[in-house]
Amino acid sequence: MNDPNGFCIFNNDIHLFYQHNPYSSYDTGIAHWGHAISKDYFHWQHQPIAMYPDQWYDATGVFSGSALIENKTMYLFFTGNVKYPGQTPDHINRQALATSTNGVTVTKYANNPIINGSISMPDLRDPKVWKHKGTYYMVLGNSLNGTYGRALLYSSNDKISWDYVSVLAKSNGTLGYMYECPDFFEVDGKYVLQFSPQGMVPSGDKYHNLYQTGYIIGDFDYSTHTFTPTSEFVELDHGHDFYATQTTLDKLGRRIAIAWFDMWEQKYPEASDGFTGIMTIPRELRILNNKLVQIPIREISRIKGEQVSAIKEKYTLRNKAGEVNVLADGRKDFQLYIASDNVKVTISYDAANGKVTLDRGGTDGVRRTDWRPSGQLKWRIFVDASSIELFCGEGEVTFSSRFFPNGAVVIYQNGAAVLKVRDIVRTMPRPT
Ligand code: FRU
Repeated sequence: MNDPNGFCIFNNDIHLFYQHNPYSSYDTGIAHWGHAISKDYFHWQHQPIAMYPDQWYDATGVFSGSALIENKTMYLFFTGNVKYPGQTPDHINRQALATSTNGVTVTKYANNPIINGSISMPDLRDPKVWKHKGTYYMVLGNSLNGTYGRALLYSSNDKISWDYVSVLAKSNGTLGYMYECPDFFEVDGKYVLQFSPQGMVPSGDKYHNLYQTGYIIGDFDYSTHTFTPTSEFVELDHGHDFYATQTTLDKLGRRIAIAWFDMWEQKYPEASDGFTGIMTIPRELRILNNKLVQIPIREISRIKGEQVSAIKEKYTLRNKAGEVNVLADGRKDFQLYIASDNVKVTISYDAANGKVTLDRGGTDGVRRTDWRPSGQLKWRIFVDASSIELFCGEGEVTFSSRFFPNGAVVIYQNGAAVLKVRDIVRTMPRPT
């Protein structure tokens, strides 16, 4: 799997589609839309493949897109990709529509594409659609001449016929040559443009993954369709594996984000187990001090598990899965270790410089960012069989990194923190 797609609530179920190659775990192949349903954001049930690359306009990929729920119908907007080997450009993206009334069977609209592609703009993809006061809006990721990433806004009165409206944002060169998977939403009275730029250059502790995901906060004027930034571009997560985030608004009014917990061109050992790629824990987004904070979806606290309080020494996770809560003196250096026979992940706090580092060892093992606790050092960490998600403080800084422990997973510290661990019982069998 790669990108999350069509994340939505439909008939009280949580639906997540995703970019999926059913034929190989080694090769990204030709994208289909995979599909899973959950009641609690944690236990998911696999569904039949929702869309196959079976039309002229999506013959080499049913690429990413989003869902809009209206009239008891799921409207799925996606990009059809077609490759033209040996030609220039060698691919064209077109936007298409599909619907589902039962939440499982998906029918592509007969007169697709709804936004045609063009040779002069082959990279225009990943529609995120919403409705505002009777008008539908779509934000698309784009590359201007292969050089400048852009987020373009389109609008429609009927979801079928779309007009180009404005450039929501454009790279000045430092933000890459292509924006993938844009999302645009309102939270806590501000607008957030979230996207995954390709082609950013590392700078200090920043932008060390192959591609990045981040956001710009600003104000949006629907009468002029202008987005006025009030923040810089900020990376959403500081770990190794986090891309193509998509959000949805749930019935409680929460803006919830989920990301592909992997990165292009990584070669992870799970491929030999028959799968590649996982999703992050869904996170509620809020704005605090003009920054997005990410709060692990609160439903996760209700997941079956045993709470083990105040670990003094080493603790071995029972199922290789658990939640670790750290409370430490915010003025002192601190290290937490998550280790197995073959790997050791060190998460450390450098009090003098106000930095958090996650080091998973090996080549390119270190990720680091500025962070200072206000008061006590508070970390919340979710460990699963091949992943670590660290939430610092109120979620103002997160790290999502994959790791591949062979044996049991042990947690221990170098410091005097109060460590609490909750074993999490995994009840969902692995797909076969
Ligand atoms: C992002 C992306 C999207 C595209 C999809 C193809 O990871 O490249 O831009 O729609 O993946 O699988």
